[in-house]
Amino acid sequence: MPFDRRIKIAPSILSADFADFGREIRAVEAQGADWIHVDVMDGHFVPNITFGPPAVKAFRKHVGTVMDVHLMITPVDPYIAAFAEAGTDILTAHVEAGPHIHRTLQAIRAAGMKAGVALNPGTPASTVEPLLDLADLVCVMTVNPGFGGQKFIHGQIAKVSALRRMIGDRPVHVEVDGGITPETAPLMAGAGADVLVAGSAVFKGGSADDPTPYGRNIRAIRKAANAARTAA
Ligand code: DX5
Ligand code: ZN
Repeated sequence: MPFDRRIKIAPSILSADFADFGREIRAVEAQGADWIHVDVMDGHFVPNITFGPPAVKAFRKHVGTVMDVHLMITPVDPYIAAFAEAGTDILTAHVEAGPHIHRTLQAIRAAGMKAGVALNPGTPASTVEPLLDLADLVCVMTVNPGFGGQKFIHGQIAKVSALRRMIGDRPVHVEVDGGITPETAPLMAGAGADVLVAGSAVFKGGSADDPTPYGRNIRAIRKAANAARTAA
């Protein structure tokens, strides 16, 4: 997985048809998705439950790009081996998930995956400063995690710019997650994000049987983001 800062669109399968994940993943990749974003929720760290390592392992068979797994669970460490075994490329844990995020990031890399660290909207950028040499990705939540289809929180723009400055020339992706649309993507790309997670804005209007809207939606987000970059 070579590092680059081109804009990447990572559809969240939280907005896909839960009875048809395999076809949904293949359809959205065929329509231009760069990564596949998988939201794992435990009903404890966040008020919703999605899927665990056996489901993620089943998704892997259909992912031809990069499987980006976002853990909204606590504790994280007992599950790292299972997510590695499931074929995860990037495993992201929340900085708020426990007292030992530093150890968690080390363990994720030791298990052979790229390590990501996510921040809730109420958590300042400075919390990840000591972690930047241990992380391959920082994920800024632009909604409170737990559900797809929520409204983008504008207050997070300054956090993205601060992180981008803090990262400097380290090979660390800045991912944004929640409420990303063709309207909000330029704000994030302009502030320095390179990975844009989008659930409802990618999957709306289409289906595995009629996936062309997925492609249209992805292209609209990418175009708006790239325009903000050249303008910056
Ligand atoms: C929220 C998840 C997101 C979510 C994004 O807890 O982490 O990945 O699915 O969905 P949209 O793009 O609909 O806000
Ligand atoms: Zn997510």
